[in-house]
Amino acid sequence: MLSKTLQDAINSQINLELSSAYIYLSMAAHFEGENLGGFANWMQVQYHEETEHAMKFFKYVYERGGNVTLKAIPQPIAKFKSPLDVMNIVLEHEQKVTASINKLYELALKEKDYATQSFLKWYIDEQVEEEKNATDIINMLEMTGDAKMGLMMIDRQLGKRKAD
Ligand code: FEO
Repeated sequence: MLSKTLQDAINSQINLELSSAYIYLSMAAHFEGENLGGFANWMQVQYHEETEHAMKFFKYVYERGGNVTLKAIPQPIAKFKSPLDVMNIVLEHEQKVTASINKLYELALKEKDYATQSFLKWYIDEQVEEEKNATDIINMLEMTGDAKMGLMMIDRQLGKRKAD
């Protein structure tokens, strides 16, 4: 059975994952408005992934005899300066999620909860991927600079992203 401390910490993580989903949906809306359909697609896939991350935790809490309590989701950021600005916010956000997962893991270590340690390993690996994905797009955007053609090519590439 999950300790109350771990249960509360996972509930907060569920909120962070759902808040992440909402941020990415807001970014998808922004890109739709900017006629950058590829970026919008990438953000929608990301939105779905975040809801899956939340639901994986949700299921785990009940598998371990705990309870889920949902908290309010903050209003997401909706104004952005450029695609590069958006992707820098994504990277910063993912770094915050990584730190939060690491804290959960530290708590599971402290409590000698081996099942939760094992469960969290998937998220630790996933965060490596999440940060890399954002960094790759930032690098492409920085290489392109203000060139419209480059932005269109990146948009086309991001349009190919499909849900796993
Ligand atoms: Fe679920 Fe993007 O972290």
